[in-house]
Amino acid sequence: MTKRYITTAIPYVNGLPHIGHAVDYCLADVYARYHKLLGDEVRFQAGTDEHGGKIFQKAKELNIPVQEYVDQNAEKFRDFIKALDVECTDYIRTSDNEHVRRVQEIWLKLKDHIYLEKYSGWYCTGCERYITQKEYDENKGICPDHQKAYEKLEEENYYFRISDFKDEIREAISSGEMLILPDFRKKEILKLLDESPDVSISRPKSQLTWGITVPDDSDQTMYVWLDALSNYITVLGYPDKDISEWWPASAQFVGKDILRFHAIIWPAILLELGLPLPKVIVSHGFVLSNGQKMSKSIGNVVNPVEVIDRYGADAFRYYFLRHVDTFADSDFTWDKFINAYNNELANDFGNLVQRLATLAVKNNIIILPREHELDQEYKNLMDGFKYSEAFEYIWEKIQNLNKKIDEEKPWILAKNKETVKLEECLNNLINGLLDCSYALSPFMPTATNKVSKIFSDKINLPKSPLFPKE
Ligand code: MSP
Repeated sequence: MTKRYITTAIPYVNGLPHIGHAVDYCLADVYARYHKLLGDEVRFQAGTDEHGGKIFQKAKELNIPVQEYVDQNAEKFRDFIKALDVECTDYIRTSDNEHVRRVQEIWLKLKDHIYLEKYSGWYCTGCERYITQKEYDENKGICPDHQKAYEKLEEENYYFRISDFKDEIREAISSGEMLILPDFRKKEILKLLDESPDVSISRPKSQLTWGITVPDDSDQTMYVWLDALSNYITVLGYPDKDISEWWPASAQFVGKDILRFHAIIWPAILLELGLPLPKVIVSHGFVLSNGQKMSKSIGNVVNPVEVIDRYGADAFRYYFLRHVDTFADSDFTWDKFINAYNNELANDFGNLVQRLATLAVKNNIIILPREHELDQEYKNLMDGFKYSEAFEYIWEKIQNLNKKIDEEKPWILAKNKETVKLEECLNNLINGLLDCSYALSPFMPTATNKVSKIFSDKINLPKSPLFPKE
């Protein structure tokens, strides 16, 4: 049995879960469920990133003690994962004492490549990122993502000598030993790697208190990204435990905005710790609203919990896994969602289930059970992380089944008492549906499970439609 460890980015808890956070979770959950179908053993991490200036500032603004603030919000993320029907096995909060201690130990292991130096430059608290002079000039001093002026920092920081690892990282990325998907992002990263200076990995305590204290210098707080990236291995018990049973990760899911941390700083840390690099880093696109970033000031923010409450987790996952491309930016609007829900989920899928179950019950059809196999084309798409395409591929089969019912007209066969033909026709259609449902189970676990129950030994006609129309 292959063991697979998969990870998701841990969101900052300076607010509530938003629609973009769902992407990591949905993609990773499909990966996990698909591999479980194939018989693999899966460990799946999720959690929350709770340190840094951004969170500290927000708690201060709200006048809430920081720990209390992160406790409240972290709970909402946990609930969100459950509401999405995401089956993670390991959950970490970076304010956990165990994590803090383990990160301090990791720091000590990196010491040969850490040096103290004056930093004079720019920082964006929104991005929690040091900004190069080149970027500062290109963006005219304003962060394009947060619409805020970069802050000027003049302070003494610890640096991590990335330059010591660049050649090895470049080789691992170029050779595919650490595969970066999609390919165009890999090219961007290789370019960025060449330009990357050593990274500052601490801030003076006088400037930032909310974070992990540097183990042998209590005047310094660790850079939130060193702390956050380490979660992928501290959650497995590193360095107290031997993690080789699960590490390297089979796949790490991250948004395009944070690929640089995962493809440059993270491998440098791992190389110095003597740990292997992750096998694949999947960098997904962004969810936009009418082509625009969702933002409170534009007023186009959609609360994902509202979508799930109204339509259920499967409908949410349906939209996010079929209509949100794995790699490119995609749009979410209520109109698009409701249209997809009514015309595709309810019509194509829900109606098909209802029609076939009704015909089978009415005509006393016995279903001859068949093994449901995953076809090669589907597997190729799934193995290439092209989830939206795999979904599309199965959906075409569903639409074909709908066409087939209309062409074969089983109700006419019934009327003409052509029993053998009718049995064969409905058995083919129902088994076709069950094949599709099996392939869709990583995407819509609850609905597909219901479909299996409806068409078990005896047909259990559903009392209400799987996806009631609006
Ligand atoms: N805390 C860091 C991650 C540390 S991982 C060691 C962080 N947090 S975040 O809350 O800003 O983002 C969490 C995840 O959500 C990231 O993968 C990010 O790319 C993703 N998304 C945030 N907004 C998004 C969209 N609008 N669309 C899709 N994904 C987006 O970064």
